[in-house]
Amino acid sequence: MKIVEQIKAPIAFEMELFEQKFQLFMSSKVALLNRITHYIVNRKGKQMRPMFVFLVAKMLNNGEVSERTYRGASVIELIHTATLVHDDVVDDSNRRRGFFSINALWKNKIAVLVGDFLLSKGMLMCIDNNDFDLLKIISVAVREMSEGELLQIEKARKLDITEEVYYEIIRQKTATLIAACCSLGAASVKPNTAEVDNMRKFGELIGMAFQIKDDLFDYGEEKIGKPTGIDIKEQKMTLPLIYTLNNCSKKEHDWLINSIKKYNKDKKRVKEVIDFVKDIGGLDYAISKMKAFKEEALNILSSHPESPYKESLVLMVNYVIDRKK
Ligand code: IPE
Ligand code: IPE
Ligand code: MG
Ligand code: MG
Repeated sequence: MKIVEQIKAPIAFEMELFEQKFQLFMSSKVALLNRITHYIVNRKGKQMRPMFVFLVAKMLNNGEVSERTYRGASVIELIHTATLVHDDVVDDSNRRRGFFSINALWKNKIAVLVGDFLLSKGMLMCIDNNDFDLLKIISVAVREMSEGELLQIEKARKLDITEEVYYEIIRQKTATLIAACCSLGAASVKPNTAEVDNMRKFGELIGMAFQIKDDLFDYGEEKIGKPTGIDIKEQKMTLPLIYTLNNCSKKEHDWLINSIKKYNKDKKRVKEVIDFVKDIGGLDYAISKMKAFKEEALNILSSHPESPYKESLVLMVNYVIDRKK
C-alpha cells in the first residue's frame, strides 16, 4: 500500500464525506465564480490539513468525530485554498498543483476576489453553526498568515533576515494553520481541554518542518506541481541561504547579497547562487533543522496511547519531511 493510502486508511470514510461537503460549500450563484471554484475543486491538493483534523479528533475521542469536526476540516481547507490563491498573486507564480494558477488564467483582480470569497465562506460556515470556538482558532491563524507574508516581504526588501526571523515568518505563514488543524480537531470533540493546546503545539512543530521542506523543494529540480527556483527570484531568503550567508567569507557574502539584490532575475546567476548554497552545506543544515522539528512533534505524540489514528499521525509526520511534492 502506498504511504498516503496507509495514512488515510483509518479516516477513509471521513475524507470521502469531507470531499462531498467541501464541494458544496464552494458553490456560488455567480457563474464566473462557480467556474473558478469548479476549476479549483478539480485540482485538489494533498489535503493534508483535513487529514490532520480528522486524525487528531479520532485519536482523542476513541475513533469518533462530530459534525463540528467536518466543519472544522472544511473551514481549514477553504482558508488554505484562499491563501494559496492569494499567495500566487503575491509571489507572481503561474503554476499550482500541476496546472495554471488562478492569477495565470484569470489575472490578479479576479484571483484576489476569489480568495476573499473563499475566506468569507470559511468564516461564515463557523458563524452559521455557532462554532465560535472554532472561529476564534481560525481567525487567529488568518491574522498570523497575513502578518507572516508581510514580514516576509519586509525582509525581502531589506535583505537583512536572520535565522530567528525566518522561523518567525514560517511559524506565522504556515505553521499556524497546521497548528489550527490539530487544535481544531481536538476542540471539535474535546472542547476546553488541555488537549486543544497540546495538539496546537504538535501542529505548530509539524508546520515548521513542513515549510522548511517546501523551501527545500525550491532548491531542487523535481516536478512538484509548482515552479521551483522562484524564491530567490522573489528575493525570498530561506533557511539554506540564511545559513550560507552566516557561514561564508565577507567577499562571498557581498557577492550573494549583490546577486539577490541586482541579479535575482538572471537565471545563470541564480543557478550559481543555488550551487554555492549547496556547496556550503545550506541544504544539509536545513534538513537537520527540519528533522529536529519533526522529532519534537513526535515527542508530543508519544504520550498518547497506541491506536490506528496515532499510528497514522506518526506516518503523517514522517510524510511531511519525506514527501515528493
Ligand atoms: C502549500 O501547501 C503551501 C505551503 C504552506 C507551503 P500544500 O503543499 O499543503 O499545498 P496543497 O494543498 O497540497 O496543494
Ligand atoms: C507558503 O509559502 C505561504 C502560504 C501561506 C500560502 P510559499 O510561497 O513558499 O508557498 P508555495 O511554495 O507558493 O506553495
Ligand atoms: Mg508562493
Ligand atoms: Mg514555496
